[in-house]
Amino acid sequence: MAVHVNRDDGVAVVTVDRPDALNALNTETNALLLEAVRGLSEDASVRAVVLTGGGEKSFVAGADIAEMKDLSADEARAFSVLGHQMADAIEGAPQPWIAAVNGFALGGGCELALACDIRLAAENAKFGQPEIGLAITPGFGGTQRLVRTVGPSWANFLVLSGRHIRADEALAIGLVTAVYPKDRLLHEATKLARELAAKSAIAMRACKQALRQAQRLDLTSGLRLEKDVFSGCFDGPDQLEGMTAFMEKRPPDYEGR
Ligand code: CAA
Repeated sequence: MAVHVNRDDGVAVVTVDRPDALNALNTETNALLLEAVRGLSEDASVRAVVLTGGGEKSFVAGADIAEMKDLSADEARAFSVLGHQMADAIEGAPQPWIAAVNGFALGGGCELALACDIRLAAENAKFGQPEIGLAITPGFGGTQRLVRTVGPSWANFLVLSGRHIRADEALAIGLVTAVYPKDRLLHEATKLARELAAKSAIAMRACKQALRQAQRLDLTSGLRLEKDVFSGCFDGPDQLEGMTAFMEKRPPDYEGR
């Protein structure tokens, strides 16, 4: 199986594992990943997810070029639709998803990382949208999510040139939030996932929803939404527990509601 899911104490680690093809996303892998995302989204015991790539060199080196090569336009649309479903499912998941980018994150791989809420990179990571070199556009959301993540200036440069950038450059443009030595990346990503998993699941979900909508709504609608999600937090027990724990100088014990 090209996708593995390991659950441990509220944190799941999802590994895209086709190292012989640098974890390139073919239809089978995309479908497995979508199935994994949907399964995790329905599993309330999983409160944070780390996504990484198998093998030594790559997070995901893109959509599978060997499979795409002979697609008709209709087949290419179906391929793109599946990739979008996968990215949308990650973005819409109730839990935070952390991309642990342990090597090449190119094309569909960069787009997969962009669908995650937080991106951490190993020092050897390389990012890029090289599709222009194959005479196509990004197809799993890159033209839209990259602009919203790093702004039009860098998105234009990356998509139009097809060039790769290093992890330190990705950090400088805000594509990732931290860079670690390769052998520490998964440890750091899992540590962050555990930290997020300990937060109130309902507040996490509400924050994720509001942040996601910030990419879509005009400012007035977004600010209205924030009032809704903020006040909605006061409907469940976690808000009272969080604030009581603060006042009592003890860790909170959340129900996730
Ligand atoms: N699709 C299919 N196979 C891929 C692949 C991909 N995206 N990326 C790498 N592979 C395969 C190679 O064909 C090679 O297979 P063989 O051993 O059978 O020849 C194997 O993985 C190892 O790759 P390399 O020998 O090329 O490794 P390298 O270290 O010399 O180079 C690399 C690494 C720079 C990442 C290079 O493999 C590369 O440029 N890969 C393609 C990157 C790319 O263009 N990605 C975007 C794809 S298009 C896309 O993603 C569209 C979309 O948005 C939907």
